[in-house]
Amino acid sequence: MLPIGPRPIALIGPMGSGKTETAKRLATLLGWQFVDIDELVVRNSGKPIERIFREDGEEEFRRLESQALVLGLTMTPAVLACGGGVVAEPDNIKLLKSSATVVYLKVDAKVAVARVGNDPDRPLAQSLPQLLAEREHLYAQTADLVVDADKTVEEVAGRIRSLIGAT
Ligand code: S3P
Repeated sequence: MLPIGPRPIALIGPMGSGKTETAKRLATLLGWQFVDIDELVVRNSGKPIERIFREDGEEEFRRLESQALVLGLTMTPAVLACGGGVVAEPDNIKLLKSSATVVYLKVDAKVAVARVGNDPDRPLAQSLPQLLAEREHLYAQTADLVVDADKTVEEVAGRIRSLIGAT
């Protein structure tokens, strides 16, 4: 059954672009629910992300992530924070484009690296600059809107709200 309600807003971008905090803030501003795709993966699999990568591998994580995305997109009205690698699966891109208003939080690689540091819960944190370089065109191609995310959460969420209101 197709979900009934406003088109969800999905935030995409690399680790350290502020997707989670911005999605929370935007959801509050809109009175919508906040959905974190990584959190859905953890809840559905019963394992932290770091353990999924270590025990089952990245491919299994991507499979779980795609499943969680399908579920998350039915939870309207909602603002979704996607994982940084959601665009690694072409089917996820198709699904996002057809089902959500997609916003790319564009951030300078140095800012993202400084924000993420050596987070042990993010198995791919060390590869962030390389991943950003590889995925940048995928974020841009998937997004309906691109927002400069080198700013505060408050500013970024407010900017998205005004842009969405204007479209
Ligand atoms: C990943 C980003 C993470 C998480 C996983 C893989 C990636 O999400 O999904 O560690 O491939 O860039 P955040 O972008 O929310 O940190």
